[in-house]
Amino acid sequence: MSGAPYRVAVVGATGQVGGVLLALLAERSFPVSEIVPFASSRSAGRMVGEGLVVQPLTEETIQGFDLALFSAGGATSRAWSPRFAAAGAVVVDNSSAFRMDPDVPLVVSEVNPDDLAAHRGIVANPNCSTMQMVVALRPIQLAAGIERLVVTTFQAVSGTGKNAVDTLRAQAGGVLSGDGAGDAGPYAHQIAFNALPQAGSFAEGDDHTDEERKLINETKKILGDDTIRVSPTCVRVPVVNGHSESVTIETRAPLSADDARELLRSAPGIVVLDDPAAGSYPMAIDADGEDPVYVGRIRQDPGHPQALSLWIVADNLRKGAALNAVQLAEVLHERGLVGARVA
Ligand SMILES: NC(=O)c1ccc[n+]([C@@H]2O[C@H](COP(=O)([O-])OP(=O)(O)OC[C@H]3O[C@@H](n4cnc5c(N)ncnc54)[C@H](OP(=O)(O)O)[C@@H]3O)[C@@H](O)[C@H]2O)c1
Repeated sequence: MSGAPYRVAVVGATGQVGGVLLALLAERSFPVSEIVPFASSRSAGRMVGEGLVVQPLTEETIQGFDLALFSAGGATSRAWSPRFAAAGAVVVDNSSAFRMDPDVPLVVSEVNPDDLAAHRGIVANPNCSTMQMVVALRPIQLAAGIERLVVTTFQAVSGTGKNAVDTLRAQAGGVLSGDGAGDAGPYAHQIAFNALPQAGSFAEGDDHTDEERKLINETKKILGDDTIRVSPTCVRVPVVNGHSESVTIETRAPLSADDARELLRSAPGIVVLDDPAAGSYPMAIDADGEDPVYVGRIRQDPGHPQALSLWIVADNLRKGAALNAVQLAEVLHERGLVGARVA
């Protein structure tokens, strides 16, 4: 069963993720009859992509879609995703609004695509740092099980939004010209030439950020194992685009670094770059604009008899957001799930 080509809404089309969504729909030849971009009322009438005119979100403009790809923040998703779904669209939502809702599948295309079959009109796209990590973890989980993860992330400013990229550029220019960093923008402190041990915000009484909580909760949901123990520290670094992660994995059964490297080499969505003595390992500047999740520094943890350490890098706007959303749309299409939903 296929209703393709589809009428597709891109909500948040003027943003960073929205821009990549529009580019990827064209690049990957997703079967569309029409793409309609949406953003805030501030942007209505603006042109994006290939001559598309941005629409405001109203009860009238949201009618008649097969798919709606959302990247406009949690508040917009909470307000408008259910309305698109009620009007007949399947929503793929990039925000955190529905990710932990037990009725909403949280899906990474290479990891748990079968979970899409249970959708009721809304599918959640995971948080960027979780997304790239679970792509690399899945083959290891299937081979040896995962007992515990110790994760430190080095997250690019593009993960905060386009205003954060502008802030980093302005601060770097100000510092280099001797004028000083100026405004901290969306962060608590200067981000240029600095590393902030705070990605996200602290809810009252919580000593972990919401970003760290997402990494814990979403990892368990996507990997389908509530018993995995996750110990995260999420750090914001002055990188424009591309998240890097140091991940130590305590496995349930023994797995050598060589075997893990071979598993990862043949896993979908992954490129292994692992000749560290020759300077070959993943780096954010190389992942920027690319689709794969890059994995390197694959090694035995000298501090634990049954643990491996990895360095995982991906473009947070592509695999961490827009690419996975389009891949989910592709799986929904291939499996005849665009018009179908669980009641
Ligand atoms: N950046 C990442 O790495 C990443 C990764 C995973 C998920 N996400 C999620 O994706 C979403 C967007 O991120 P981004 O980096 O693309 O942000 P962004 O560059 O700041 O873009 C935000 C988009 O949301 C739109 N928007 C804001 N308020 C709106 C409203 N009231 N009604 C309709 N549209 C509204 C904006 O439209 P205007 O231009 O009109 O303001 C813009 O198109 C967020 O939910 C974020 O958590 C981001």
